[in-house]
Amino acid sequence: MSGEVFPVPASVAEAAYVDDAAYRAMYQRSVEDPDGFWGEHGKRLDWIKPYTKVKDTRYAPDVSIKWFEDGTLNVSANCIDRHLATRGDKTAIIFEGDDPNDSRHITYRELHAEVCRFANVLKAHGVKKGDRVTIYLPMIPEAAYAMLACTRVGAIHSIVFAGFSPDSLAGRIEDCASKIVLTADEGLRGGRKVALKANVDAALAKIGGVETVVVVKRTGGAIAMTEGRDVWYHEEAAKVPADCPPEEMNAEDPLFILYTSGSTGKPKGVLHTTGGYLVYASMTHQYVFDYHDGDVYWCTADVGWVTGHSYIVYGPLANGATTLMFEGVPTWPDAGRFWQVVDKHKVNIFYTAPTAIRSLMGAGNDHVTKTSRASLRILGSVGEPINPEAWLWYHNVVGQQRCPIVDTWWQTETGGILITPLPGATALKPGSATRPFFGVQPAVVDAEGKFLEGATEGNLVITDSWPGQMRTIYGDHERFEQTYFSTYKGLYFTGDGCRRDEDGYYWITGRVDDVINVSGHRMGTAEVESALVAHPKVSEAAVVGYPHDIKGQGIYCYVTLMAGEEPTEALKKELKDWVRREIGPIATPDLIQFAPGLPKTRSGKIMRRILRKIAENEFGSLGDTSTLADPAVVTDLIDNRQNLK
Ligand code: WT7
Repeated sequence: MSGEVFPVPASVAEAAYVDDAAYRAMYQRSVEDPDGFWGEHGKRLDWIKPYTKVKDTRYAPDVSIKWFEDGTLNVSANCIDRHLATRGDKTAIIFEGDDPNDSRHITYRELHAEVCRFANVLKAHGVKKGDRVTIYLPMIPEAAYAMLACTRVGAIHSIVFAGFSPDSLAGRIEDCASKIVLTADEGLRGGRKVALKANVDAALAKIGGVETVVVVKRTGGAIAMTEGRDVWYHEEAAKVPADCPPEEMNAEDPLFILYTSGSTGKPKGVLHTTGGYLVYASMTHQYVFDYHDGDVYWCTADVGWVTGHSYIVYGPLANGATTLMFEGVPTWPDAGRFWQVVDKHKVNIFYTAPTAIRSLMGAGNDHVTKTSRASLRILGSVGEPINPEAWLWYHNVVGQQRCPIVDTWWQTETGGILITPLPGATALKPGSATRPFFGVQPAVVDAEGKFLEGATEGNLVITDSWPGQMRTIYGDHERFEQTYFSTYKGLYFTGDGCRRDEDGYYWITGRVDDVINVSGHRMGTAEVESALVAHPKVSEAAVVGYPHDIKGQGIYCYVTLMAGEEPTEALKKELKDWVRREIGPIATPDLIQFAPGLPKTRSGKIMRRILRKIAENEFGSLGDTSTLADPAVVTDLIDNRQNLK
């Protein structure tokens, strides 16, 4: 089944920017002459002061990454102002609300006015170049206005996904010392209200330092406003001037921070900078989706994740595209919503996650086939490996076998897509992200860091820098080096395993560290563990991923209770709710197994390899258990695993 190869459809090839020969030639040049290649493609942006230097990057010793370092520009001017002369009345953003009757088109001219106003509200509240602004907004146009307004005044935004808990929000505000938080009264998803302002209030009850909370009115629901701290956006916007000139920023000035989970400790503040990021986001958006002027483009991600940053807001708007922002969920009012929206707005390019595809696949073909989808030309997938079954359904049923699927592999850290097909150039194999984008040099290494050649399997590294690469972890450059460049000296380690086939195609097999991927959301098992052990009845916890039909991976928790505590079903529910409250709904455990003991080495290290195998129901391949302090623990865990669904 997965052996099948899908050639580039002739209709797509005709109109595409690059065919296979062009891809190969451009790729070759991009890696042989990065300065020449990126020096040329960097010109896709409007620079205030053009750069004279292109690439200045070092992976060892002392990691340092700079692109276009002496150029200056402004991101919002590139995403808005420069389009006004030719595209002022073109739709920049199509907003599709949670309620199917609620939608709206925002032109580039309107976007300009909205962003200027928002920028002036920020300024009126003391926000200056380099300040951090935390954004905790739902998927409404104001989220895009807020992001662009930050870039207009040179502030660094840190978006916290609106599904995160008050605790998670507080940690992220504190880490980057934001003095201002932008939020809404409530969010709206699947007909249900999400208490955003109340979450902000709860977060701010735990930490100091926030002086201003700007509240966008979305639902009009009752909320508390703290005198002297909280202000309504619409009231502030009425007080400020309509125009706001863009701040001149250096290419290497910080653009945004986005927190992401790693295998250890608290979330890392991934820092992206201005010039290289925007060059890379806009260029990948154009080539990977074969975006042409006039196309309607829809990425279903949330702006709380990097996909929303690069492929809802920055890439598309830098390209003068029409980008759709969807507030709702795929299954509301029914499981046909995506395809109804595609027809309603004549979407040409549609980009979503495998978990959504799998869940819609389960809801039956009728929801899809009832709609036309004739406007669709390109389909995309991101966030986790796509299983061939879901790929084929996406291709056959959704895309009516007309539309190439770009399976795009990348990470928060990479800023943009690194491994991907190009619609006009790449024959597709279901489940493979295929080949590197221009300038990207992947390699496969073994555990010792030895390069593996040809068709092989191992750990995925990138051997040299590309413009969209993260520059540091906010406030902790040493952790940046340690996390990404110390496993294999001089190489960027992705944390992913992969296979490379005889055609040089890459097949990402998933994380090789203690990070799991739940519905395309990245989760450090350590974070779930620390939430669990914070519960008074829990003495110890170990969390692993296990295969889950819809989510890709589910969250499996082994929990050891304090002496005297009863292992009841009610307690399981209590612990699930606890983690949900501590981190957010996306971290809710799927399965909890009470474990009187965990498999540990004699030095006390938990052997996660064994716990993963047991969670996967793979009892035959536990490997060597002889080094365990108490091998009987394993038998006990296996006996109890059988009783869980
Ligand atoms: C991890 C990064 C960047 C997009 C959203 C996720 C996994 C991402 C794919 C893909 C297989 C994928 C990897 C990666 N991943 N895309 N097309 N095929 N795996 O960003 O939260 O930073 O997670 O997502 O494991 O390391 P993220």
